[in-house]
Amino acid sequence: MHISWKKLAIALAILPFVVVLAAWIGFFNVGASSGHWKITEWFLHFAMRSAVRTYALAVDVPEALPRHAIQPAAGHFARGCAICHGAPGEPRSPVVTRMLPQPPDLAGTVGEWTDAQLFRLVKHGVRFTGMPAWPAQERDDEVWAMVAFLRELPSMDEATYRDLAYGERLAPPAGVAGILRQALADCARCHGEDGLGRGPAIPVLAGQSEAYLLESLRAYAAGGRASGMMSLPAIAAGSHLWPDLARHFAALPTTDPDGGGDPALVRRGKEIAGRGVKAASVPACLGCHGRQDRSPLYPSIAGQPERYIEAQLGLFRAGKRGGTRFGHLMANAAKGLTNEDIRALAAYFSLPAASSATGVQ
Ligand code: HEC
Ligand code: HEC
Ligand code: HEC
Repeated sequence: MHISWKKLAIALAILPFVVVLAAWIGFFNVGASSGHWKITEWFLHFAMRSAVRTYALAVDVPEALPRHAIQPAAGHFARGCAICHGAPGEPRSPVVTRMLPQPPDLAGTVGEWTDAQLFRLVKHGVRFTGMPAWPAQERDDEVWAMVAFLRELPSMDEATYRDLAYGERLAPPAGVAGILRQALADCARCHGEDGLGRGPAIPVLAGQSEAYLLESLRAYAAGGRASGMMSLPAIAAGSHLWPDLARHFAALPTTDPDGGGDPALVRRGKEIAGRGVKAASVPACLGCHGRQDRSPLYPSIAGQPERYIEAQLGLFRAGKRGGTRFGHLMANAAKGLTNEDIRALAAYFSLPAASSATGVQ
């Protein structure tokens, strides 16, 4: 059969109008109940897998996954992911299994992806599927923590998952009103009932300045301090409870001194804390983080977990930490720090006595 080029050109030119007309009269069934045509389904999956594979080539994979941070990742998974993907001992809801495409049970599928591909999926989500992007795009460290958690998922039993994601549910503290108790129970999943934190990735809230805690909750909820893991519980608790939550944690007793750490590193950290690094314009940390005369909005950092301090200083230096309206002071202070300085400062400040009058010898 002979097709004239002219007729073909006309057909191609009117095709878009035919498609728009078909959409306008409602020809395309957008209902999820009947599923996709086989060819559509094949094409969408093929396109999704290829795109993830290609874009993952540009992902910088860390030497080791941050296994020390899987507890808060599990805690976040329970509220932010399990609703669609299920979790050990928590099957997916029948509502979700009628989504198109269906969110897979990740324990069965994560093995098909490399670490870089999982990072790409969790950080950016998947268009047209309901799979959301990570809420804080600045926080690659949080996304890697989630990847570390996903890697453990296939072999994780229900008891381990429940412990990581929820902790032991102790009786709520006495003398606390009902609604505040519920909010505190949520905080305790990651921060512990004692506010000391359930692992090295979690800051100590116990004994922290009340004003700083309150302003930090505000900053998480408003996005001034980027964290996918903290924005969710801060917003869920509700702004009316933030002052009570801050007061509660500020009043709890702090850690017992435990000492430890490499002495040479601690000594170097102490030196920077007291004198700064002139050549790199790093100010003396104790000018602001010492005990006396400091603004209530300058947090106490002595006794925070080493890994947490290290991570926060890295974020400040990269300009990704954000914070309260005083956050820029720290961004300036951290600009000139080397990785070695950061390790030394973390070793020093993780000692509870770091900013007391006597300091660490
Ligand atoms: C609103 C529902 C929803 C939520 C919430 C959700 N996802 Fe998904 N997710 C999906 C859907 C749907 C897909 C399937 C995408 C596809 O097949 O193209 C998916 C796919 C994935 C995949 C790729 C798995 C595979 O084998 O195809 C990973 C990994 C993943 N999600 C992780 C997460 C993590 C981690 C969270 C929480 C931070 C999360 N998801 C939150 C709906 C959701
Ligand atoms: C899913 C785990 C999780 C839950 C639940 C959670 N937090 Fe957090 N919280 C974190 C992590 C992780 C950080 C550190 C985040 C960062 O890097 O900024 C944090 C940080 C904080 C900070 C900042 C402390 C500092 O030293 O800067 C405050 C304040 C806080 N949380 C309060 C709360 C309160 C109050 C609740 C309950 C309403 C709560 N959190 C629930 C994981 C959690
Ligand atoms: C000019 C005052 C100032 C100086 C100097 C300063 N800081 Fe800070 N620092 C702050 C303020 C203010 C915050 C709270 C930022 C926010 O979240 O709004 C902070 C926060 C921090 C945090 C995060 C605490 C947490 O719980 O998340 C760490 C860690 C820290 N500083 C370490 C240091 C170190 C190490 C030095 C020295 C190199 C230093 N700071 C010097 C004012 C200062």
